Amino acid sequence: MPQDKIKTILVTGGAGYIGSHMCVELLQAGHNVLVLDDLSNSSEKSLQAVERITQKSLSFILGDIRDSELLARVFAENKIDAVLHFAGLKAVGESVAEPIRYYDVNLNGTLKLIEAMTNADCKTLVFSSSATVYGIPETMPIEENTATGAINPYGRSKLMVEQALMDLHESDPSWRIALLRYFNPVGAHASGEIGEDPNDVPNNLMPFISQVAVGRREKLSVFGDDYDTPDGTGVRDYIHVVDLARGHLKALQYLDEAPTLGVFNLGTGNGYSVLEAIKAFEAASGKTIAYEVVDRRAGDAAVSFADPQKAQRELDWRAEYDLARMCEDVWRWQKKHPNGFSD
Ligand code: NAD
Ligand code: UFG
Repeated sequence: MPQDKIKTILVTGGAGYIGSHMCVELLQAGHNVLVLDDLSNSSEKSLQAVERITQKSLSFILGDIRDSELLARVFAENKIDAVLHFAGLKAVGESVAEPIRYYDVNLNGTLKLIEAMTNADCKTLVFSSSATVYGIPETMPIEENTATGAINPYGRSKLMVEQALMDLHESDPSWRIALLRYFNPVGAHASGEIGEDPNDVPNNLMPFISQVAVGRREKLSVFGDDYDTPDGTGVRDYIHVVDLARGHLKALQYLDEAPTLGVFNLGTGNGYSVLEAIKAFEAASGKTIAYEVVDRRAGDAAVSFADPQKAQRELDWRAEYDLARMCEDVWRWQKKHPNGFSD
């Protein structure tokens, strides 16, 4: 696609962590942005910050992706060229406790969205999938054709959506669909004005570390140091959220070329241990991160990192930012907003 072609993009979940960074990249690339979000896990303040960063405006629709009437109205009132679908629930532990809510929002919500897109003849979709669809893989790095096998309701909801979208494309090859399997998104926009703002106690490593650094939490629990890894702690492929968002822009260009369905890992290809992440954050922040080693967390893989070559080859995308930069950007956001968007 010509890089300068202006499009109108619907961003579901656009007020959230990844979605808000996506909105910045879309606006800066000259696109028109419509956000649909029910704010169940985010704040409208993120969208105000997006507008300040870009000096451009976007349209915000408060609502639920499961609301078919609302979706029909949104598609009737706007000529939408493509949908970036971030809206969903993402906490693994919660998905075990409330599986039906997860299937309802993640699977049923996506089916409602596809129905509205079909009715409006909008057939370009980028779906936020996750490396969680690989379950606990036996070989590293993880390639797109590594066997899938999710091990919790969250992961299964992602896998079910992927399968539904593959079947949809099979039945109607005029669809243009990208399934993007994110590894571990971290980092924040360089302005320090948007970033990850967990509602409760963070489930994920990087926001927990940064809350310890800023004094909101006493210490980090390191979930196990007896894995078969160089220092015994879990190894992950952390990817800067801005790199991740730029991968979506590349996916839109790829889909513009021809109807297709593409599955892509979005990762850096580098694995870092929990202890390495702690050291990198200490270096970036100048703070000491207190931690204690506790038992392993159920369901955690020892090691997970991507083979990102397919995205490099076919999307012409590669992650640019290293772990030091990810930590610097998280710290800038956390320092400026110790209590997230409620500051
Ligand atoms: P997030 O919770 O910050 O963003 C999701 C957004 O969707 C929130 O703004 C929330 O209010 C909104 N939302 C939830 N249910 C909705 C509904 N029914 N209708 C409308 N809006 C709704 O999460 P995120 O980290 O930005 O993740 C975005 C997507 O990427 C999710 O689909 C997630 O599963 C996927 N993903 C995230 C990660 C990660 O580690 N952050 C990893 C892999 C995949
Ligand atoms: N960890 C700790 N202490 C914490 C949090 C995490 O030691 O307080 C460790 C974990 O054991 C793991 C590593 O830090 O070794 C990373 O854990 P995260 O929770 O940050 O990330 P995960 O890889 O476990 O999970 C992420 C997403 C999930 C997704 C999964 C696979 O959060 O939604 O990747 O894609 F399912």
